[in-house]
Amino acid sequence: MMSRDLRSDQPDVIVRSDATAAAKFVADRFAETIRSLPQCVLGLATGGTPIETYRELIRMHQEEGLDFSAVTTFNLDEYVGLGPDHPQSYRHFMRQHLLDHINIDPSRTHLPDGLATDLQGHAAEYEQQIVEAGGIDLQLLGIGHNGHIAFNEPGAAGDSRTRVVQLAEQTIEKNARFFASADEVPRTALTMGIGTILEAKRIVMLATGAGKAEAVRRALEDPADADHPASFLQTHANVTYVLDQGAASRLRL
Ligand code: GLP
Repeated sequence: MMSRDLRSDQPDVIVRSDATAAAKFVADRFAETIRSLPQCVLGLATGGTPIETYRELIRMHQEEGLDFSAVTTFNLDEYVGLGPDHPQSYRHFMRQHLLDHINIDPSRTHLPDGLATDLQGHAAEYEQQIVEAGGIDLQLLGIGHNGHIAFNEPGAAGDSRTRVVQLAEQTIEKNARFFASADEVPRTALTMGIGTILEAKRIVMLATGAGKAEAVRRALEDPADADHPASFLQTHANVTYVLDQGAASRLRL
């Protein structure tokens, strides 16, 4: 395990033996934050990667009394055109994998609304809600194979804000596994921008599996560049990268 002195240039990289151990590490970070700051604001992510972390948080709630009653959450993104009851909407995902199983006040859980009639106006409101909540204390992120974070695809600006975006072909193909076919995957989404994400006080990126190794290597070792959105995390002072051995396998560290 490597840990960073925040004054050094070395990123804070935690490598665990497998995905389960990495998920446990991240869940522990979240639990520490909730215990030390019961009214914290958490940034949450979807995708296959965080499911085990959420499972562990549910276990901590049920068996150890981890208390979410004063916690506020903001998710990164949502598909445009999918409502909360659509099984592939991110609102549905979050309810299924976390929110319905903990004692969080539903009115404190936020995701962009994929059915908003004025999407751009809604995006601006979402930003405002984050500010009014006091900003995000701890943001969980995954990484796409093409380096996307949330739905900020290659080419997204480092100062981008919450907005409507087109999904990359590769993302549509990867996410098709959750839908009946690739044709059913929405082509557009609402996503926090990279600038929005970089305003979180602390960020934890979780990546598991050798399939993510090259995306992780580019994020950490190549210069920060819009071709690989996750590389912009290098400009944030407090990011922890939590990896399993597969995801860490291409790092020079
Ligand atoms: C999705 C999400 C991202 C997520 C990424 C990786 O499209 N919008 O927030 O990090 O893709 O997903 P997975 O964890 O399934 O590999």
